[in-house]
Order: sequence, then structure tokens, then C-alpha cells
Amino acid sequence: MSENILAKAYSAEEFQNMAGKVMSLIGESLLISQKETIPQTINWQAPEETLTYWQNEFNSTEKTSLPELLEKVIAHSINFHSKGYVGHQVAVTLPLTFLTSAICAYLNNCTTVYELGMAGNAMEKVVVNHLAEKFGYDQKSTGFVVSGGSMGNLTALVTARTSLGIREEDYSKLAIMVSAEAHYSVERAAKIMGIHSENILKIPVNEHFSIRTDLLEDAYQNAVSQQKIVFCIIGCACTTSVGAHDDLNAIADFAQMHQIWFHVDGAHGGAAIFSEKYKHLLNGVHRSDSLIVDFHKMMMAPPLSTAILYNAGERKIREFSPKATYLWQDQLSEEWWNSAKHTLECTKPITILHTYAIMRLYGDEIYRQNVDTLYDLGSQFAKMIERRSDMELALEPSCNIVCFRYIPNNNRNADEVNKRILHELTKEGTYYVVGTTIKDCFYLRTTFMNPYTDTLCLSHLLDWIENTAKNSI
Ligand SMILES: Cc1ncc(COP(=O)(O)O)c(C=O)c1O
Repeated sequence: MSENILAKAYSAEEFQNMAGKVMSLIGESLLISQKETIPQTINWQAPEETLTYWQNEFNSTEKTSLPELLEKVIAHSINFHSKGYVGHQVAVTLPLTFLTSAICAYLNNCTTVYELGMAGNAMEKVVVNHLAEKFGYDQKSTGFVVSGGSMGNLTALVTARTSLGIREEDYSKLAIMVSAEAHYSVERAAKIMGIHSENILKIPVNEHFSIRTDLLEDAYQNAVSQQKIVFCIIGCACTTSVGAHDDLNAIADFAQMHQIWFHVDGAHGGAAIFSEKYKHLLNGVHRSDSLIVDFHKMMMAPPLSTAILYNAGERKIREFSPKATYLWQDQLSEEWWNSAKHTLECTKPITILHTYAIMRLYGDEIYRQNVDTLYDLGSQFAKMIERRSDMELALEPSCNIVCFRYIPNNNRNADEVNKRILHELTKEGTYYVVGTTIKDCFYLRTTFMNPYTDTLCLSHLLDWIENTAKNSI
């Protein structure tokens, strides 16, 4: 008779046996990441090499335990908890979320309809209300959690289209206005909605990489003269590539004048609302019709978990209220407790648990400290770069995103040299930095996400870049 694998796999004893070992593995890995003076961030391998490794692992006839398997996964993954991780805007997850993640998987509740996620639906409402107050939204504002910033931007645009009462026969005329520096998800959302490329009006930016508000009126009038219907303008708080903040008050004035929807993409920078020192970067956000903020960026939660907030007003839920009599009887009533009425997702995990637990245990203060620490690190790093004669900043940073580059002797081939520096840096693995193109020039791009990253570690990074550039490039 064959072994009853199903029973073994579901066995509570089997689980208890694995759980302690896996938790120790995580604990040890975290401890090493925080204690190491010379961090190990990425053990880089070419994609084909990694594929071969996992193919062989998969085909192996040797038995493995879960802790053994997970140890291999850790060894072959980038380590966000390393202080040398200064790459993309991914949260360095708080340890308590390792545990809330386990509960999410165990419960497997989803927010679709009330009974499937009673706690989750209510927690979303509590957290969203709290955020709405923070952002200065009207008391009657509403909101939900969606799966990521890209989904959040799409959800907001679709809601705007419905709420403004645009007729389906006019959909082909729809246009949006957005900074040329906005995250690509805005353009993609518009395209998914069938908005023509030439109706995605990308407004040029000024020397601070913020949208040029002096160009808005002309762009709008030009679109209107071509029978386009501009229904939404998006403000960036902040942009992804260089971390620039748009003038939200000026955009709000413009949106109000033309009665168009004003959405703020605060996926990264929305968390600054918790900081007395930096919340001025979001001045005017309370005047927007909708906004998003990612919990899985600056708010230290695992992905994908994004709050979408709607200011009180004319939000209509028609677009997201499918007829589904097995879920609800009244398609068009608000019923916040039936989340699937308001979002594109049907099954949606209760990722809100991470953020609810963070807020409940540590309060807003933890977000203030995180934002202040990481944004301060941005300006400290910028000063360190300015002090080095062979380095230059792309622009003065306003948050924790800093773009800079090495200037080779006689300034020749700067793009090539910096690309090679980045390549060597990634292969070496102590740090993880990324690259970006700004005004046709290649720059190294850092985002500080880990409060354990310090100026000593960043000074070593700059030394490493200088030494490598001088000696081996
Ligand atoms: C400003 C901005 N908006 C939206 C997104 C997309 O968010 P997500 O990766 O959660 O889909 C990003 C991602 O980096 C971002 O920086």
C-alpha cells in the first residue's frame, strides 16, 4: 500500500516539527544580516545558472526536509534585511510580519465577501479610516486594500471614469494628464482601460523633475480642441526613478477648475504623511479625489498590500459591482464588508493583517521613525557624494531615493563606466544598487529602505565604487 502522503502533509505534528526549525532559520538569518559589518546582500548568478540550479534541485531524487529546502532558497535570494540593500523600493519587512504571514496562510481568509474574511474586512475599514484622517480626507471618505500600487492606480482610474458618469460611447475620447516621470503603471492602467496612447498626455517636468504645472492649461485646452475628454490628472508623490514630488496644490487647483478627477500616486511617498519633518512634501494631498499608498514599500509590510482611499464625494461603485447572486443580492449598495464589490480582485488575501498588527503594536510612531531615518539618510548620502570630487548627484534628493554617478578622469565614457561599475557591484554582492537613465545619462540609483543601513556602510560603498573604477575599469 502506498504511503498516505495527504495525511502526512496535513499532520499537525509534522507541522509543529517543521515550524520551530524554520523559525530558527529565519531568526539566525536576520541576526546575521543585522550584525554583519560587511554585509552580504546578493549572491548573484546569471539567470541560466540559477535555472540550472533549481532544475537540478527539482529533479533530485534525494529526500529533503522543508528547513533544508528553505535554507537553499535563502542562499539563492537577495537579502533585503542586509544593510547593503539599497536598490529598489521594496519593504524591509518587520519581523512581526513573518508571523502574521503564517497566520494569513493558515487562515487563508479572503475579503471577497463578509463571512470569508470577517476580521480582514473590518480591519481594512479601521486602517483605511485611520489613514483617511491622517491624509486630511473628509470624514465620509471610503477606501479598501488592493493588491499593489499598479492595481491601485488602475482601480482609481476605473473608479474615476465611472464616478464622473462618462458614457460608454465616449470611452474612445478619454484622456488623462500625468507627469512624464510617473510610474509606468499609470500608463499601463490607461492602456488596459482602452485609452489611446496619444490620449495619455505626458506633461514635461521642471529642473526638480516635478510636473510643470505652467503647462497644464495649454495641454488641456489643446486636448479639448481635439474633442478629447480629459477626465483625470495624476499627481506623483513621489516619482519612482528620482523620487520627485509634484506640486499637489497646483494640480488640485487645476483639477477643481476643470472638474476633473485628481488622483495621487503615493505608492512610495505617501508614508511621509506620518512624519512631521517630511509631510510638507504631500501638501495639498487632502484635496485629491483618490490616493494610493503601498504598505509594502515604506510601511514595512510584505506585498502586495496597497490602500486606496477615496475622498468623500461622488464615488460610484457601479464598475466594480458585478451581478453575482451567489455573493450578494443588492449589486449597487455600498456594503464595505463585501470587499469584492469595490475591487478588481475576487479572492483577495487579508494582507491588511500585517499593517493592522504594525499599527496596533507600534502605532504611527514606527512609520514616523522609519520615514525620518530613511529620508534623512538620503540627504546624508547626498552630502557624502558632494564631498567627493569624482562623484556627482543627478539632483538634490527630497526623500530616500538618491541618484548619482562616478565621473571618470577627463569625464569620458561616463555612461559606460557607470554601467560597468554597477555590473561589478552586483557580481560582488556586498551591496545592491540599481541604475536609471536621467536626461539620457546613466546614473546609479539608491533607495534606502533599511533603517540598519548607516553612513559607515554607505561610505564603504562609495570607497568601493572609487577603487573599482580606478583599479579595474
Ligand atoms: C510611484 C509608484 N507607483 C506605483 C508603483 C507600482 O506599485 P506595485 O509594485 O505595488 O504594483 C510603484 C512601484 O515601484 C511606484 O514607485
